[in-house]
Amino acid sequence: MPIHFVNVKLDAFIVMTNQCMGTYVLFANHHYLTLKPNLALIEEKEVNTMELMKAIGSRRSIRFFKPWKPVEEWKIQMMLQAARYASCQGNCGSTEAIVIDKRIYPKEKFEQIIECASPFNEIHLRQAPVVIAWLLNLDAWYKELVQSFAVLFPSRAISAAHGWTYKLLTEVTYPRLMSFPRERTEALLRIEAGQAIANAFLVATDLGLGCCLLATGRKPTEFPKVLGTPDNVVPIWLMAVGYALESPAQRPRKRFDRLFHLNEYGNPLKEDSEVKEELKRRKMIQPMDPLPGREEEIKHICRMFGLTEAMPDMPKEHIKALYNEDSPYYGELPSGLEDKGV
Ligand SMILES: Cc1cc2nc3c(=O)[nH]c(=O)nc-3n(C[C@H](O)[C@H](O)[C@H](O)COP(=O)(O)O)c2cc1C
Repeated sequence: MPIHFVNVKLDAFIVMTNQCMGTYVLFANHHYLTLKPNLALIEEKEVNTMELMKAIGSRRSIRFFKPWKPVEEWKIQMMLQAARYASCQGNCGSTEAIVIDKRIYPKEKFEQIIECASPFNEIHLRQAPVVIAWLLNLDAWYKELVQSFAVLFPSRAISAAHGWTYKLLTEVTYPRLMSFPRERTEALLRIEAGQAIANAFLVATDLGLGCCLLATGRKPTEFPKVLGTPDNVVPIWLMAVGYALESPAQRPRKRFDRLFHLNEYGNPLKEDSEVKEELKRRKMIQPMDPLPGREEEIKHICRMFGLTEAMPDMPKEHIKALYNEDSPYYGELPSGLEDKGV
């Protein structure tokens, strides 16, 4: 497989042993490595794309991965490009990421990351071959926003007809935005990050990868130090990426009419059953877990890895309450769950 080293700037020489398809960029300790791939080698079957609606319906949080199956670098590249093309305020481009390739990431450092992650996330981190640390960069707001916003003028995204002038941007809007305290800006930029991550997640689904977002609540102040991010960069979420070892079905969602309101809050927007049927046809709405065999699948995987097979459940009366009319899940859950519970 031809791989051309285009630009190598590393303290240590890194040998890429397995098949590298797709331009590869790894950010770690400010080193970077770029491989120019032969994109023609990406097999057609792997770029056969899903319908968007099917990808939305097929996305799952994956919690068991095939640790032995590496993720192609070009797939990670596509996920990152999808994140880059997400919409963001003033075109600010505040979402960044560190791609952690466990084949070459220092083991001791990865153990420190695991210690920062919530304990219930350890198994995902150990099994997934790639972990993406999603970040937001406050400099994109406080230092670069005027530029990234202004580029929308010559690119003809905004014009005077939309109420924008360069004078308004620089003399009115910009000073107001710059006056926001760090917490407010951080809260705003988490929305951009959410959009970017969601794009990347859908592309991963499209490419046959599984992902799960992972909280790092165990040592929140330690986490940026372990990653080595500067003060203006806020690590927000880890994402395990790999090939799914499990094949879960869709998870329950709250009723449509409890989430969406017509004209005023509290006036339920009724769910259109014909639309719902069409979305089933397009596979955005899919059969819900637990499908037959799901529990056996989890138990089998647990046996493979020497993990506990226990299935902790809710108390029976809490499960029953989900079926009551006042429950946000009323009419949404498969029958038979009442038999479960403790
Ligand atoms: C911001 C965010 C953080 C999450 N954090 C975790 C986490 O720390 N660990 C985990 O196992 N799942 C985590 N999840 C996954 C959710 O619990 C998941 O959405 C839920 O299981 C529904 O399943 P689905 O994503 O397959 O539809 C997170 C999801 C989001 C959007």
